[in-house]
Amino acid sequence: MTTSLWRQHILPFTLLLGVLAIAALAGDFFLHRLNLVWVGRYLGIPGTLLIIGSLVYSLRKRKLITSGNPRSLLTFHELTAWLGSLMVLIHSGIHFNAILPWLATIAMGVNVISGLVGKLLLDRSRRHVQGERESYQLRGLSRPEVEQAVFWDAVSLDAMTQWRKVHIPIFIAFAVLAIGHIVSVFLFWGWA
Ligand code: HEM
Repeated sequence: MTTSLWRQHILPFTLLLGVLAIAALAGDFFLHRLNLVWVGRYLGIPGTLLIIGSLVYSLRKRKLITSGNPRSLLTFHELTAWLGSLMVLIHSGIHFNAILPWLATIAMGVNVISGLVGKLLLDRSRRHVQGERESYQLRGLSRPEVEQAVFWDAVSLDAMTQWRKVHIPIFIAFAVLAIGHIVSVFLFWGWA
């Protein structure tokens, strides 16, 4: 149980977050080393586009679009949001010019960590429901056993619902700060 929790959930979570942090630091380091800091400045654009593109999953889930396999779109969301965040982190670099972009970066970091927690919870509920379905098919369960299985099922799904209540406001805070940063860049662009 403890080993499976570690191997199936904590390890992937730590790896995805660790690789993100290391890749961001390494990316920034090499851009400075190679005198390509300007590349970092522009990486903010594809990074933002990738994060926006990743939200197609949300449109599909909320039936604003009807085509596309939801499961693949969620994987697409996880990949593109991760990659987009990496680009935005390299874009933030270690330069400090204004407070707003840093607030946006912190909100994005919290958003990514929360996304990874959501992935962990979702994988857990998925495995649970899967196992439950199989065991229903394999053996006739007694009533209390079924009650308990269903209870655990509900807890996992409820955990997802609770998580969403935190994740979506974090996303909104991030979106507002990012839009603020982008608008201010366009306002100052002409002046500089
Ligand atoms: C800047 C980065 C990210 C943003 C802006 C973001 C945004 C969102 C939003 C708005 C939702 C809610 C979808 C909905 O219910 O309509 C969501 C759900 C989710 N995100 Fe992210 N996310 C980010 C990063 C990540 C990462 C890195 C992962 C995992 C690798 C991830 C995994 C998930 C999962 C598993 C869900 C739950 C799907 C569901 O509720 O059905 N997210 N994300």
